[in-house]
Amino acid sequence: MLAIRHRNGKYYYSIFHNPISRVLKAKLFIKYFDFVDKRDTVLDYGSGDAPYKKMLIEYFDNYVSADYEVTNMKHNRRPEIGIDDDQKVDVGDNTFSCVVLSEVLEHIYKPHEALQEIRRIVVPEGYVIGTVPFFMWEHEKPYDFHRYTYFCLKHMFEENGFEIVKLDYVGDNLGVLTYIHSKFFGVFIKPLRTIKPLHFILKTLINLPGFIYYLLIKIKFVERLLKKYFGEYPFGFAFLIKKSKDQ
Ligand SMILES: C[S@@+](CC[C@H](N)C(=O)[O-])C[C@H]1O[C@@H](n2cnc3c(N)ncnc32)[C@H](O)[C@@H]1O
Repeated sequence: MLAIRHRNGKYYYSIFHNPISRVLKAKLFIKYFDFVDKRDTVLDYGSGDAPYKKMLIEYFDNYVSADYEVTNMKHNRRPEIGIDDDQKVDVGDNTFSCVVLSEVLEHIYKPHEALQEIRRIVVPEGYVIGTVPFFMWEHEKPYDFHRYTYFCLKHMFEENGFEIVKLDYVGDNLGVLTYIHSKFFGVFIKPLRTIKPLHFILKTLINLPGFIYYLLIKIKFVERLLKKYFGEYPFGFAFLIKKSKDQ
């Protein structure tokens, strides 16, 4: 579960408690909220453990969670409403001013059906904010179906009546390398979990390249250079899309 820290009136995801890919994606989410002018009700579609709930209730008057019953069972939180086998949600048209779709599209075998349904329930000119992984092992098996490219996402959103406001690459080759590094060496220290101080020290050392990467990309110039020359392998993508008025 993502750990949210609160400082100076702002929510942020700490690198010490979360995978770096998640921290970077959460930071983009926060940027995207600036675009969302209508802040009535937000739907967290595929809510799982609802890691963004705390943050979302700060931005919106009402928060509603929805999830697919079959896969939600693996999570700790139950949703307020269900999503059926055809990706439908039992609410009227134009109900939500924003829909959050965080790390969900890869689990939906028929993503076009989900996007059609989301288009139905979001208000005209309402927003969908979301993320998908690109570099990520199979997870929530056997309900892991897709890895999307930038171009697939673009086509898919436009085809289903959304205008793209932001579609961002998250991370780069170097970031992914630090991720693989911590995953690889993490396996070797797992048996030492019971020796807490030693495990903590080794874990910190293993995560060190990730921390250094994180500090490096805080320098905008470095982040831009890395994206330009080593951007082929992102952690994933983050998007802010808008339902067009005439849909
Ligand atoms: C990786 S979890 C992400 C959960 C949460 N949104 C987050 O950001 O941590 C994937 C979520 O997708 C949901 N899911 C799986 N298949 C789905 C489907 N067909 N329709 C809607 N949600 C689905 C799962 O129940 C789970 O909550």
